Amino acid sequence: MPNSDLNNLIADVREQVLYLQELGVETIALSGELSVESRELRAESPERLRIPNLRSKIANSEAISNFRSEIPDIKPVRTKTPESKPAGSRLASLPSLSKLSGSGPVRTKVDQGGPSEMENAPTTLNAAELLSLPEPTETIEQIRAEIGPDCTRCKLSDLGRSKVVNSTGNFNADLMFVGEAPGADEDEKGKPFVGRAGQLLTKIIESIGLTREDVFIGNINRCRPPGNRAPEMDETIACKPYLKREVAVVRPKVIVVLGATAAQNLLETKVPIGKLRGHFHDYLGVKVMPTFHPAYLLRDPHKKREVWEDMKIVRDYLNTQG
Ligand code: URA
Repeated sequence: MPNSDLNNLIADVREQVLYLQELGVETIALSGELSVESRELRAESPERLRIPNLRSKIANSEAISNFRSEIPDIKPVRTKTPESKPAGSRLASLPSLSKLSGSGPVRTKVDQGGPSEMENAPTTLNAAELLSLPEPTETIEQIRAEIGPDCTRCKLSDLGRSKVVNSTGNFNADLMFVGEAPGADEDEKGKPFVGRAGQLLTKIIESIGLTREDVFIGNINRCRPPGNRAPEMDETIACKPYLKREVAVVRPKVIVVLGATAAQNLLETKVPIGKLRGHFHDYLGVKVMPTFHPAYLLRDPHKKREVWEDMKIVRDYLNTQG
């Protein structure tokens, strides 16, 4: 490998180590000649670089292979063979309807080999929902306009919410993040994930070489519940259909759903987040990765490690999608 490539590669790895540290990975065993001191790295590399294809760079480098092999790795996800997708079409990634025939509740196993208890913890989705990802006959702007700035479809409009917080980001994103409901900062600014949890979400996004502008970010509920309580069922029933319509327009390849409330809501399950995370699930034909909510990570930074593992699964899957 030419020296300049090797230097670039080492710079990339350094940046990745910084991100890992920011996400809470405290120790990474390094072997062989490569020795990286975190304090040196901080001093040398104050600016972050984007690393879209670090995985392939690492895979191609003998010098780095020891580094890679000593990061405790995740189980490989056995993804379905990606169906070929005509240029410009986002519909081809949806499952064939004929595979989803039948009526009544369909019990869908989490779709990628997880621990055995997961096999006993299926996610229950109903057939109508599985079948009914709407055709994208509208735009995100039209959906926002229909919701309106003064939505009164649920009682949160009377309970102190100041702004309806619509989803934001790239309307053609491959990756979407879904949270629970806006907090105080979001309620004030009218944008999702702009407070402390949002700043951590930005780092999580950047840890896989993307920016906030690359992804689409929304919440199951668009209005802040009083005292940041969990949204109630009637509130979610009023709001969630708009998220579903947005998913139908954006047609992301993966949805990362943040926290127990949002994950259980989206997947219509009561399985705890600790068991849901780490594996892909299905929402209307879109792969869903549940993970811990960034607000929870602020309270328990040790959980960042698991989020990083989940994000690696997402990154690796997206990399296979071209
Ligand atoms: N928490 C969420 O679930 N959503 C936000 O937008 C902000 C914090």
